[in-house]
Amino acid sequence: MANTLTKAEDRVEVGHAARLAHVSKSFAGPTGTQLVLDDITLDVAPGEFVTLLGASGCGKSTLLNLVAGLDRPTGGTIETPGGRPALMFQEHALFPWLTAGKNIELALRLRGVPKSERRTEAERLLELVRLGGAYGKRVHELSGGMRQRVAMARALAQDSQLLLMDEPFAALDAITRDVLHDELTRIWRETNVSVLFVTHNVREAVRLAERVVLLSSRPGRIAREWTVDIEQPRRIEDTAVAELSVEITEQLRGEIRRHGQH
Ligand SMILES: Nc1ncnc2c1ncn2[C@@H]1O[C@H](COP(=O)(O)OP(=O)(O)OP(=O)(O)O)[C@@H](O)[C@H]1O
Ligand SMILES: [Mg+2]
Repeated sequence: MANTLTKAEDRVEVGHAARLAHVSKSFAGPTGTQLVLDDITLDVAPGEFVTLLGASGCGKSTLLNLVAGLDRPTGGTIETPGGRPALMFQEHALFPWLTAGKNIELALRLRGVPKSERRTEAERLLELVRLGGAYGKRVHELSGGMRQRVAMARALAQDSQLLLMDEPFAALDAITRDVLHDELTRIWRETNVSVLFVTHNVREAVRLAERVVLLSSRPGRIAREWTVDIEQPRRIEDTAVAELSVEITEQLRGEIRRHGQH
């Protein structure tokens, strides 16, 4: 466990990690204004793990970018009282000219960690994602799964109260994804960070989350949500995970049918 990351018991309680009230987002396009998100109201509690599930193009990344502060909503308000959230993308977005360790140190520097502590801390974070020994490796020397782990370590290096993850494991094979699900669950429980995790994979949503929020398409609205009352650690092949996934998939299919996608 990295000792400069805030531990579960040391977190300062805020009322919510994120609060979205009546958020909408439109984009100007060639055929006029397109309403992508409509009236999204959602709270993420401190330490909560929420997955946002929806079909491709329904506005998941748009929503995450708004919460990250990379773009502004057209209407409504977004609060993240715990400070700037950390964001992890589908593609690792590491700096290829830096080593794994230096990528993490950059995030530590931006957080204000003194230079003398950065190397030790970067090595600890690499240990945390089970990549001890990769400090000096360049990005191109790492496999896809290893890159996503470095990206996870870099996101954790920000020590934010809220971690936003946009399909971070979508490009990985099932076994590697399984391992990273376990790692993420473990790290989440150890640090009590709040997580808002975007995916279009129902099983992944159920495997990870305490709450699954289903978005409709065109425009993206909250269609339904489920509390996942299955004990952690879970396995993606657990019967309870499979059963709830079937129910959610039915709803997701309905959403997709309703909006004329296949
Ligand atoms: N900057 C932008 N300008 C114009 N339209 C945009 C912009 N960003 C997103 N959109 C549109 O908003 C809609 C939602 O896009 P978004 O990337 O949020 O979907 P998504 O749910 O993340 O999809 P996927 O699962 O494929 O990643 C799409 O129709 C997209 O074309
Ligand atoms: Mg997306």
